Amino acid sequence: MSDNTISRNKAMTKFDQHDSVWLFGYGSLIFKADFPFIERRPAHIVGWSRRFWQGSHDHRGTVQAPGRVVTLIQDEGATCAGMAYLITPEVFDHLDYREKNGYLRLSTDIIFEDHSSAEGLIYIATEENAAFLGPAPERDIARQIAKAEGPSGRNADYLLGLAVALRELGKEDAHVFEIERHLQLLNAINQDAE
Ligand code: BEZ
Repeated sequence: MSDNTISRNKAMTKFDQHDSVWLFGYGSLIFKADFPFIERRPAHIVGWSRRFWQGSHDHRGTVQAPGRVVTLIQDEGATCAGMAYLITPEVFDHLDYREKNGYLRLSTDIIFEDHSSAEGLIYIATEENAAFLGPAPERDIARQIAKAEGPSGRNADYLLGLAVALRELGKEDAHVFEIERHLQLLNAINQDAE
């Protein structure tokens, strides 16, 4: 797959004629939306797990020291909690550009807290994209995150912001919270050494 997913996402025209579309955010979108939206609601999707398996050399890291950001991995029976945004299709131009380092649009069912649902969109980075890093022990992921920083800021702030946002939603994510625990241990060790 090419590094740049913009043209592939433009070819995904499924919602282009809709007045509005639900977009499910499971990463930084939970706590930071840099686009206009009509409404937002806590929601979840089924059959997917959030994982820090995507490399980031353009936002939370560099080519020399890539960071790690989340993607979704198919996982039968799992649920992934996040925030759904009702947006107009024009917003996809902005997101396609921002997420051009491997993320593709995919349609999926989004389930809201009142148990209603809507077909909407997620952006996922699969193992076919060049920036995909794949699984690693949570401790190693925390070490990589601790060292990484890119144009969008420190990779650690992305992880900690996501963990805080999930707690505010009242949602568990063992993978995210375990990486956060290791990062806090690393920070404590570094402070002791100073
Ligand atoms: C999100 O924060 O949900 C998100 C993750 C990757 C690409 C686009 C959005």
